[in-house]
Amino acid sequence: MKAIVVTDQAAGTAGMKLVERPEPQAAINDVVVQVHASGFTWDELAWPTTWTDRLGRDRTPSIPGHELAGVVSALGYGTTGLSVGQRVFGLVDWYRDGTLAEYVVVEARNLAPLPGDVDFTVGASLVMPGLTAWQGLFEHGRLQAGQSVLVHGAAGVVGSMATQLAREAGAYVIGTGRAAGRQTALDFGAKEFVDLENDALEDVGGVDLVFDVLGGDIGKRSARLIRAGGTLVSIAGPPEARPGDGLAIDFVVESDRAQLREIVRRVRDGRLRTNIGNVSTLDDAVATFNSTERRAGKTIIRVRP
Ligand SMILES: NC(=O)c1ccc[n+]([C@@H]2O[C@H](COP(=O)([O-])OP(=O)(O)OC[C@H]3O[C@@H](n4cnc5c(N)ncnc54)[C@H](OP(=O)(O)O)[C@@H]3O)[C@@H](O)[C@H]2O)c1
Repeated sequence: MKAIVVTDQAAGTAGMKLVERPEPQAAINDVVVQVHASGFTWDELAWPTTWTDRLGRDRTPSIPGHELAGVVSALGYGTTGLSVGQRVFGLVDWYRDGTLAEYVVVEARNLAPLPGDVDFTVGASLVMPGLTAWQGLFEHGRLQAGQSVLVHGAAGVVGSMATQLAREAGAYVIGTGRAAGRQTALDFGAKEFVDLENDALEDVGGVDLVFDVLGGDIGKRSARLIRAGGTLVSIAGPPEARPGDGLAIDFVVESDRAQLREIVRRVRDGRLRTNIGNVSTLDDAVATFNSTERRAGKTIIRVRP
């Protein structure tokens, strides 16, 4: 099969190569999926899991890309709940070879059925941003209707999902980002927008929840904005500051079939829009990832036309 591999961490996306690899085999409780659309996160090659296994041993050449939409082509021994020929979408374990390939092996529990009227490109684009926003807001952030939430990077891939889901849940959303992201953030449902390069973040006043995709100094200053009993949720690594009277939580997204169903249901009934950027083919993917053009929205590789 065709697949994109990386072997050299220092080379970044310039080290990506399209090669021939053997088709993967399903182990117990796995499925093999014929990938139709694959999602790649721009900083994935900086994640340690791209390079080493759970014991810290080199696992290169590794195949990046962890989000997928496709069709089940084989079942491992004992796999239940999914059938050959079924449309699915979901997230591949960080330590496994990924979805920038014609076939991928995934644990069945990490996949959910993809309804027939949802395009594979849309399905793949929902997985990581949708699950991350959902888990950050509702599991870790325990967001309730009527609360206020500050969403950093609200025009970005994860931030635009968090903005929409928080708004739908009845929260008051203040989005942040660069000036150019203002209209996008408002279109996704933010009520206010803070241009982090020109406005004073501190003017926001108090909020119940901060959803932080940026970390660093912005994350640190955000901790001071949290009301008593509130939460700072970070997806950008361990927070450098904690709220005086509240929680600071960082997490890494996990696949969850029930949440994937909820997310795709909202897309089908028009409550949720995905933020898709570049769509490319597997043959053009390496060039796409190395393009110097500004990247906005989720990059999707359409593995099968
Ligand atoms: N922990 C987890 O489970 C998890 C899951 C998913 C993603 N992530 C991480 O979350 C981060 C965000 O991912 P994403 O896909 O949402 O990225 P993205 O689409 O690039 O979103 C980031 C947004 O923030 C804006 N921004 C970046 N730096 C800024 C700054 N200094 N000041 C103001 N605005 C700024 C960006 O604007 P510009 O486009 O103009 O730069 C963009 O709108 C990545 O590091 C990713 O690896 C973590």
